[in-house]
Amino acid sequence: MNATTTESDLRVTPEAPVPPSPDSVLEHGRYFTSLPREYYLDEERFKSEVDRVWCEQWVYAGHVSQIPRPGDYFILNMQDESLIITRSSATEINAFHNVCRHRGLRLCQESKGHFGPRIVCPYHTWSYGRDGTLHKATRMTDGEFFDYADWGLAKAHVSVWQGFIFVSMAEKAPAPVSSMIDAKTNADMEMIEPLRMKVAVEKIYEADANWKLLLENGVECYHCPSVHPEFCVSLDASAMADYYAEDYLPNLVQGLIIPVKGELESLSMDGRYLSKKLLGKFGEGTPIPYAFGTGFMTQPGYAWGGFHPDYGMVASTLPVSAGRSIMICQWFVHEDAVEGVDYDVEEMIKIWDITNHQDLAIQERQQLGVSGRRYVPGPNSPSQEPGIHSALRKYLEMMGEPY
Ligand code: FES
Ligand SMILES: [Fe+2]
Repeated sequence: MNATTTESDLRVTPEAPVPPSPDSVLEHGRYFTSLPREYYLDEERFKSEVDRVWCEQWVYAGHVSQIPRPGDYFILNMQDESLIITRSSATEINAFHNVCRHRGLRLCQESKGHFGPRIVCPYHTWSYGRDGTLHKATRMTDGEFFDYADWGLAKAHVSVWQGFIFVSMAEKAPAPVSSMIDAKTNADMEMIEPLRMKVAVEKIYEADANWKLLLENGVECYHCPSVHPEFCVSLDASAMADYYAEDYLPNLVQGLIIPVKGELESLSMDGRYLSKKLLGKFGEGTPIPYAFGTGFMTQPGYAWGGFHPDYGMVASTLPVSAGRSIMICQWFVHEDAVEGVDYDVEEMIKIWDITNHQDLAIQERQQLGVSGRRYVPGPNSPSQEPGIHSALRKYLEMMGEPY
């Protein structure tokens, strides 16, 4: 106590934080909240989240257009895991753990590339087929000490839906992504023909914030009018909020809508198209449904994709530590769209780039606030933030904690 503190000062000190109800950290009688502060700070919890959530769920990895030819690959790094996403043949996509089965070398260091007929480890030159089977262990004959058949590259599960590649490191694969997507999203996606898209540009953002803050922010549009004035020029923010209130599901992957204001063409700074070459059937004259915007999301580990008649964007968050996350964003255009003719990269990314920076700046400020010892989570809006309730219940369920 310092010399000037009096007993009456002590009496007006705010009361200690309200303890959570014994049933769940989210439920508080008439209202629900987000999670207690230590859930966003604790490194031990973070490690357990990587095991129980991130390695179990479907994680968005990329798009088939990134690996058009057999042998093409790209790398997905997630925390201390690394996966090689590769096209093993015309019809087979695999996700191999990026680890040699001999003495554990990380096989690929480049973020993308092309394998010849063999995947060769540079340490002792063990070589694997494109399908991951061990082809040759140098100077150790098959069957002499061990059987090659037992020592192929370890695989993660892969689910490809509409050309989007999802991976899971779970022992048992979750249900296929296609089984989790509703009929309307499938029909809307078919209109833009995702198999005929390409990644025009990719950008990586970093944030000093826990991944769950990015998730919570992503499943509500309560903040859209105050944080995203540019975004709200073309987004129908109230229809977006209604989606989270009415159609949001607690599935690992789900379809969604991202409605633009009816009189506008696309989600952009001025509501006009960002690529002249429209996607899929729209480029062939099929009428565009009112306020068209379709997409998908994963949870609790959060990825989010939104597509309009001319372009799309997928933002995939990945965990780094309790206080740090990254977000990888890909912008999609028609496979025949020509940069500088049909679209300009800087113009195309502008609306989402501004919006992403706004969101991540908010999450960093929120991480600072949540870190304060006095923070207890406040009541969330049942009409504006129900997505948070569903997403965090899913999180607690996967963590094996009461929800
Ligand atoms: S670690 Fe790969 S061949 Fe030895
Ligand atoms: Fe936002």
